Amino acid sequence: MITVTVCVGSSCHIKGAREMITRFNDFLTNKGLEDKVELKGSFCMERCGEGINWKFGDEILSSPSAEEGAKTFRKKVQNALKKKKPKGSAKKPRKRRS
Ligand code: FES
Repeated sequence: MITVTVCVGSSCHIKGAREMITRFNDFLTNKGLEDKVELKGSFCMERCGEGINWKFGDEILSSPSAEEGAKTFRKKVQNALKKKKPKGSAKKPRKRRS
């Protein structure tokens, strides 16, 4: 499970944190990934001047807008889920020639 935490403090709220959470949620619902990513809200992350602040796991991120944040979120979720697949899981087993 990937944990994504979005600051819902007043500064981030004004910059679009709520819209960004909606976009994150819509992406997860459309892709059927609700059980892979947990969305949480947090109090002020004390980075108010940076943009809309959020964390992807332990990585702290700042996005200039909800749209940019959603783009970053989609890329990060897709990359994280690629890495979690066991090696060779997408390949068919080889057939032996006799
Ligand atoms: S309100 Fe989000 S970092 Fe301060």
